[in-house]
Amino acid sequence: MQERLKELQAEALDKIAQAADLKELNDIRVAFLGKKGPITEVLKGMGKLSAEERPKMGALANEVRDAISSQIEARQTELEAAAVELKLAAEKIDVTLPGRPVKAGNHHPLTRIIEEIEDLFIGMGYTVAEGPEVEQDYYNFEALNLPKGHPARDMQDSFYITEEILLRTHTSPVQARTMEKRQGKGPVKIICPGKVYRRDNDDATHSHQFTQIEGLVIDENIRLSDLKGTLDVFAKKMFGADREIRLRPSFFPFTEPSVEMDISCKMCGGHGCSTCKGTGWIEILGAGMVHPNVLEMAGYDSKRYTGFAFGMGPERIAMLKYGIDDIRHFYTNDIRFLKQFSVTE
Ligand code: DAH
Repeated sequence: MQERLKELQAEALDKIAQAADLKELNDIRVAFLGKKGPITEVLKGMGKLSAEERPKMGALANEVRDAISSQIEARQTELEAAAVELKLAAEKIDVTLPGRPVKAGNHHPLTRIIEEIEDLFIGMGYTVAEGPEVEQDYYNFEALNLPKGHPARDMQDSFYITEEILLRTHTSPVQARTMEKRQGKGPVKIICPGKVYRRDNDDATHSHQFTQIEGLVIDENIRLSDLKGTLDVFAKKMFGADREIRLRPSFFPFTEPSVEMDISCKMCGGHGCSTCKGTGWIEILGAGMVHPNVLEMAGYDSKRYTGFAFGMGPERIAMLKYGIDDIRHFYTNDIRFLKQFSVTE
């Protein structure tokens, strides 16, 4: 009996040591220490022992039970710790791994150019003014010295909605609206960015919808030289300090005198090349001294106040600055085009 108990202990301890998980360990506990287990079975034979041997055998049986259960406990602790280790390893986060990049959007190149131009003028004390895209004939034409039937209206083929309402053909109506609001009191110093519309057939240099930025300065003693100085600063900041500007006489009904501003060609340094069509100069914008009729219609005393105005196309400026060959790229939203202006990639 004694031997049998020792055998059972050895067998149990061996199995415990090999138990691979908690379930197996529990099965071993039930198998060896349970009521139907082999130890209980052996002890049933105690009745045949002498009175002397019986307590000894009882004590031995208890020893064996204790040895087995303490071994089970030890193994259980071991297995539990291993299970925790395993779980930790499985859930481990490598904080040194680089993060997954989040794709960021970007400003459209036109928005970028418009904001750059805005910032430049804001830096010179201008404020930004906006006006409606669906405009009254009055502000788009009449208040700009373009009465009905004026031949210069043909310069800007318009989308009319009714006789009196149209999609604005330029940002100049914002001039007229702003001046009217000031009720004849200077000074005014604004730039007006926005969308404009013309009945043009779309091609590499024309679009039925495009953007403009208008500038207007009104005060006492504003002269053409102020306009020239302003445009010179603008051109040098926008295109490079080595650029020269020149003003050519031109015609706009809302300015007198009217000019067009060219910048010296960067490609050839002014010697003449295909970009500047051999002239050494590239046309950038229209400008002039605000026509007295325009001032008077908005309620300004044209004897006291004078002003200058200019209007430019951000598309044209972006095309020159970035070497873009087709205006339609701005509106077709080809991601490969837009990505070239990305700041994050
Ligand atoms: N509004 C003109 C156009 O769309 C551009 C322009 C020229 C605006 C001269 C002005 C200006 O303010 O003074 O062609």
